[in-house]
Parts: sequence; C-alpha cells; structure tokens
Amino acid sequence: MHNNTINNVTVIGSGTMGNGICHVFAQAGFNVSMMDIRQDALDKAIATIAKNMDRQVQKGSLTEEAKQVSLARIATYTDMGEAVKNADLVVEAATENIDLKLNIFRQLDALAPASCILASNTSSISITKIASVTKRADKVIGMHFMNPVPVMKLVEIINGYATAAEVTSTIYKMAEQLGKVPCVANDYPGFVANRLLLPMINEAIISLQEGVAGVTEIDTIMKLGMAHPMGPLQLADFIGLDVCLSILQVLHSGFGNPKYAPSALLVNMVQAGYLGVKSGEGFYKYTAGSKDLVVSPMFAKKEWN
Ligand code: CAA
Repeated sequence: MHNNTINNVTVIGSGTMGNGICHVFAQAGFNVSMMDIRQDALDKAIATIAKNMDRQVQKGSLTEEAKQVSLARIATYTDMGEAVKNADLVVEAATENIDLKLNIFRQLDALAPASCILASNTSSISITKIASVTKRADKVIGMHFMNPVPVMKLVEIINGYATAAEVTSTIYKMAEQLGKVPCVANDYPGFVANRLLLPMINEAIISLQEGVAGVTEIDTIMKLGMAHPMGPLQLADFIGLDVCLSILQVLHSGFGNPKYAPSALLVNMVQAGYLGVKSGEGFYKYTAGSKDLVVSPMFAKKEWN
C-alpha cells in the first residue's frame, strides 16, 4: 500500500525546476525538504523562491505573511538519506541525464520509506525505465511541471508501464491541491507535451537554417499569428538548447522516425556552447538586468565585402 495522505514532500534538485516545484508545494501547505549536493545551490534556490514570491506579493496574489509561512515550510539538505527519511512523496528534478536519474532512483528506493511515491519531473526519459531500477515500480510516476512552475497551470502526469492506478489518482488529486490542472499520459517517448512541442521548435530551427525567414520573423509569426506567448526560437532558448536537443534525440531514437532528427543548426549551437538563456546566448543574446529581446549577432545579415 502506498500512503495516500501526502504531507511531506522531498524535492531532489534545486535548479530552475526544483526550486519552482518547492515553491508551489510550500505555498500549498506541504512540508518541503529540498535536497541538492551543494549548500550554495540550496541557498541560491531559497533566494530565488523568495524573489519569485515577492512578485506574487507585489501583484497581490500572496500576502507577505503567507510568503513567510511558505518559506518557513522549506528545509534544505545535502544528505539524501536525511532528506527523504520522512517523505510521503519524492519529486526528482535533477539534471536531465539518464545515468544520473537512474542512480538517484536506485538510492531513493533504498533510502525512502517503503510507502513513499517516487516521482520524476523528467521531460523525456522513460518512466518505465526509471521504475525498472527500483523495487517499487508501482509507486514510480512522472510529474512533469512546466517552466516557470509557479505560473504554468499544467502538470503532465505520466504512468509508467506498472504504475498503480491508486498512485496516479493520489498524484492527480495532489496536483489539483497545488492549484494546477493535471493531465494523464502514458509512457511513450516525449509523452504528449514534448512530442508535440519539440517537433515545432525543431521545424522553426530548420526554417531558420534554410533561410525561410529570420529569427524575429519566425518568432513574430508564431506569437502574433498563433497567440503563443513566446515564439519557438525564444522558447527554445528559455528551455535550453541542450535540453531541446536531448529531447529530440529521445524522440528520434525512441520512434526511429527521421522526422524527429534534430536540425544540424541545433546540434552545432549546442556543440559550440550556445545554449540559450542559461549560457547568455542562443537565438537571442541575453544581458543580465535587461528584458530587451536582442537577436544574436550570429543571425544578423553578414556583409562580407
Ligand atoms: N515565479 C512567479 N511568478 C512568475 C515567474 C516565476 N518564476 N515568472 C513569471 N512570473 C509572473 C510574473 O510576475 C507575471 O505576473 P502577472 O501576470 O501577475 O503580472 C507573469 O508571470 C508574467 O510574467 P512577465 O510579465 O515577467 O513576463 P511575460 O508576460 O512575458 O510572461 C512567461 C513570461 C510566463 C514566461 C511567458 O512568456 C510564457 O508563458 N512563456 C511560455 C512558457 C512555456 O511555454 N513554458 C513551457 C516550457 S516547456 C517546459 O517547461 C517543459 C519541458 O519539458 C521542456
């Protein structure tokens, strides 16, 4: 039996997704343990959560008192055993690397209480594969939050091959308690969100590579023509071009269909270290403190004479 009353949630990883996930759980009243291997990463994550809660306070969607109470619900750990010893649910949000994730799940299986549900925020790694390294495949599930977590309403829930229906139901209800809208998908490459999103992003990059249009034109067409909040190239920068590439590789190898092959331009950009917002440059160039969207000089029209 799993514990269908979730009070204590441990989040593994304190990066963008991990701190966003801690933020929404703490705000919804859960006791949160945030675990990372480095204390300075944890301190930075707490500062980020406080800053993002300040935005909500300024907008009037959170009181200063509720912010303080929510922050006080988050404890930080660098030791996994300590972080998960009382957990009813663990949400893993570590770097998107299969070996790393499998290793974390082996450890979680050994360290977390037997009744604890183990969820992964993976954007494309098979939940069935992750579950296969544990002795509790029925309690392993995908809980795919979207960035920025406090803003985006969706939680894509992914059932592994052996996930128990009661576990899915517990996670579904809990996502609703977080104020999110859960949608359940089965475990096939890319699930639903990224199976649809990444081919669009890849096609935008191929269009740029072919010279169909420039960066601004491609993004403006999708923003103003399809009411997307960000164009696909800006969104690729926001997600991280390395993450986009790895999801496309999962789709490509998982389905064996050439339509998912990552564009050569994307591969080049990742190899050159142009990863988008996190590296300071991708399709756009980012300057700290500036909200202006400046196209990378790499995509400016070149005059050779
Ligand atoms: N925490 C809390 N609040 C935040 C926030 C954060 N991290 N980031 C933004 N906000 C709030 C702002 O305070 C603002 O609040 P109000 O509406 O109350 O004023 C609101 O969100 C909008 O923010 P901004 O005004 O700063 O900027 P914006 O209007 O340009 O919106 C955006 C920014 C929400 C990111 C918007 O551009 C957007 O929705 N982009 C698309 C995001 C998207 O597609 N995410 C999914 C990526 S795919 C993924 O995550 C999964 C994967 O596996 C790859």
